[in-house]
Order: sequence, then structure tokens, then C-alpha cells
Amino acid sequence: MAKPLAIVTGASSGIGYELAKICAQEGFDLLVAADMPEIASAAETFRNLGAAVDHIQTDLATTEGVDQLYAAARGRPVDALLANAGHGLGKGFLDQDFDDARHVVDTNITGTIYLAQKVGRDMRARRRGRILFTGSIAGFMPGTYQAVYNGTKAFIDSFSFALRAELKDTGVTVTCLMPGATETDFFERADLMDTKIGQSKKDDPADVARVGFDAMMRGDGDVVAGWKNKLQSAIANVTPAAVLAEQHRKMTEPGSGVKAAK
Ligand SMILES: NC(=O)c1ccc[n+]([C@@H]2O[C@H](COP(=O)([O-])OP(=O)(O)OC[C@H]3O[C@@H](n4cnc5c(N)ncnc54)[C@H](OP(=O)(O)O)[C@@H]3O)[C@@H](O)[C@H]2O)c1
Repeated sequence: MAKPLAIVTGASSGIGYELAKICAQEGFDLLVAADMPEIASAAETFRNLGAAVDHIQTDLATTEGVDQLYAAARGRPVDALLANAGHGLGKGFLDQDFDDARHVVDTNITGTIYLAQKVGRDMRARRRGRILFTGSIAGFMPGTYQAVYNGTKAFIDSFSFALRAELKDTGVTVTCLMPGATETDFFERADLMDTKIGQSKKDDPADVARVGFDAMMRGDGDVVAGWKNKLQSAIANVTPAAVLAEQHRKMTEPGSGVKAAK
């Protein structure tokens, strides 16, 4: 019997890599995507875990990139969509390159929901499927020195709950994984290595992925990975936004890591 198929975006590293590994170990075939060549070697690793794996190197910030990924499934029904690809961008908003900022929005929001719409329509028609978004606890707080990124994650956290409600009783579940700071390439790529958050101890991406995968399989609405993050998000829910923005500054202000290390 054919195995179920999972699409995992951003599977070349970090949380997405671990999600794809778990999918392979738990009996899914895979279609994995990322925008750098490393996705090919990641696919090889997943293959060695017993899954049939297709991979595609494509920029999921573009509709063409998402179309290519969707086409790569070649009409095979998708049982699980793990929409995880995303990246951040540190420094003050006025000091960021606008194209870089737009790429964060286009990857984290536009490409993500475009893919979710295409795959979600098929799932609804089949009355079967699971969608897991990688949101973030960053969506609960204004992201001083990560303003655009946190905004995108607030969008995804919110969107995920709304889509879940729309798809109630259709056989399609929608789950939002909300990690806290996790030890991945995220901070390097977002130019946050000179910050307190960039230099802090972080969660293990394998643990975070396991929490997300299990929540998706249970069909839960959301899951915050780790008790410290659960506490942080509970406090964030009752803290004024201006206070949260100032707290965030302490974690992500350029040079804050160096100061903290002295
Ligand atoms: N690390 C954290 O602290 C943390 C916390 C909360 C939420 N998250 C979220 O977790 C998700 C995964 O991030 P991560 O921490 O695992 O970081 P990561 O190790 O940098 O992984 C990001 C993945 O997304 C892919 N990606 C990024 N932009 C893409 C694009 N435009 N098109 C195709 N692929 C793209 C990357 O592929 P390439 O390398 O090929 O670009 C990579 O596979 C993101 O959505 C992030 O916002 C992370």
C-alpha cells in the first residue's frame, strides 16, 4: 500500500529538517523544498530513513516557486502539509533593505498561504488532510528590531486559527506550532548574532519538531513548544504591547549580546 505523502517546506535545516525526519520515520513519503542546494543532501538523509523522497529547490517567496512545488507532487494526494519555511530579519526597520524585508513577508506570509490554499483545496475536496504551520511565540509580541518578522508570525498564528475554524467538520485539521528561540540557522541568517537572543541558550529543534508533529497528528489547534515558552506566551497575553515591545528590545537590539557578555 502506498504511504501517505507529506510536503515539508524549509526542510533543509532547523525545525523543518527535523519535521521531515520525523515524517520519514513515522511512515510518510516526502516532497521537501527549500531555496538552496542543501535540500538535495537533506532529501538523501530522509531517503535513508525509508521514505520515498522528492525534493525541489525553489524560492517559496514567489508564486512561481510555490506553483513549482505544487506541480512536483504530480497530482499525488497530499496527506500532510507542513508549511514551515520562513526567515527573520534583524536590525531597525528603517535600516533594513526593503527588498529583504519584503522577502520575509513574501516567504512567511504570501508563499505560505498561497501553498496552503492550493493544497488545502485538494484536502477539502478529499475530506482528509492535516496542515501544520510553523508560527511562533514571536507572534504574541511586537518585535522591536525584528518588527517585520514578528508581524508575519502574528499573521500566521492568527491565520492558522481562522483557517482551522473554517475547515471544522471538513476532515482537514489545521495546527499551529509556536516555537520559542530554537537552535537553528535562523539567528545567523537574520543577522542577529550580536544580540542577546542570538547568543542565548535555545531549544533543540528536534524536540520542537516532535512537539509540532505530535500536535498535528492529534489534530490540535496549536502548541507552544516548551514550558518556558508556554509561560512567556501566557504572560504576553496579559501584558500591554508597549511593555512587550520594550522587553523585546532587550533581546534583539543590535549589540545587546556583546553588552550582556561583558
Ligand atoms: N529558530 C527559532 O528560534 C524559531 C522560533 C520560532 C519560529 N521559527 C520558525 O521556524 C521556521 C523554520 O526556521 P528555523 O528556525 O528552522 O530556521 P532555518 O534553520 O534557517 O530553516 C529555515 C528553512 O526555511 C527555508 N527557507 C527560508 N526562506 C525560504 C524561501 N524563500 N524559499 C524556500 N525555502 C526557504 C530554508 O531554506 P534555505 O536555507 O534553502 O533558504 C530552511 O530550510 C521558520 O518559519 C521560523 O520563522 C523559528
